[in-house]
Amino acid sequence: MTQRTLVLLKPDAVRRGLVGSILSRFEAKGLSIAAMELRTIDAGLADQHYAEHVAKDFYPPLRDFVTSGPLVAVVLEGDEAVEVVRALNGATDGRKAAPGTIRGDFSLSNRENLVHGSDSAESAAREIGIWFPGL
Ligand code: CMP
Repeated sequence: MTQRTLVLLKPDAVRRGLVGSILSRFEAKGLSIAAMELRTIDAGLADQHYAEHVAKDFYPPLRDFVTSGPLVAVVLEGDEAVEVVRALNGATDGRKAAPGTIRGDFSLSNRENLVHGSDSAESAAREIGIWFPGL
């Protein structure tokens, strides 16, 4: 079933010059870009996006990180896009993510893990509504 999912190429991806390499993987897989924007977010948007994490211990430094510079927000579309993107991203912790995944190949961190992908169709709808209202 064709789905849309929200992907963030986080500030570490922009700082490290990995935006093109990461986007290439999604495009090569067959996913298409439905919307894309470079933007720097404030703490309010970070709190909205990460609503389920705001009370967790790891959240304050995560909020500092995601607001630390420009990121690229992307809506990707394709068959089973939510699950496909999560497989391409790899496990959350870059140190444990499998080689061949984006995090497994390029990240050595649990926080600065380059990419975010919606974790379900319901999350995708919520997150796309936050980042690209009206899409
Ligand atoms: P993401 O897929 O965007 O979803 C939540 C983010 O929180 C995650 O990627 C990481 O960037 C970060 N994160 C999750 N767990 C931890 C943790 N234990 N320590 C630090 N950061 C974390």
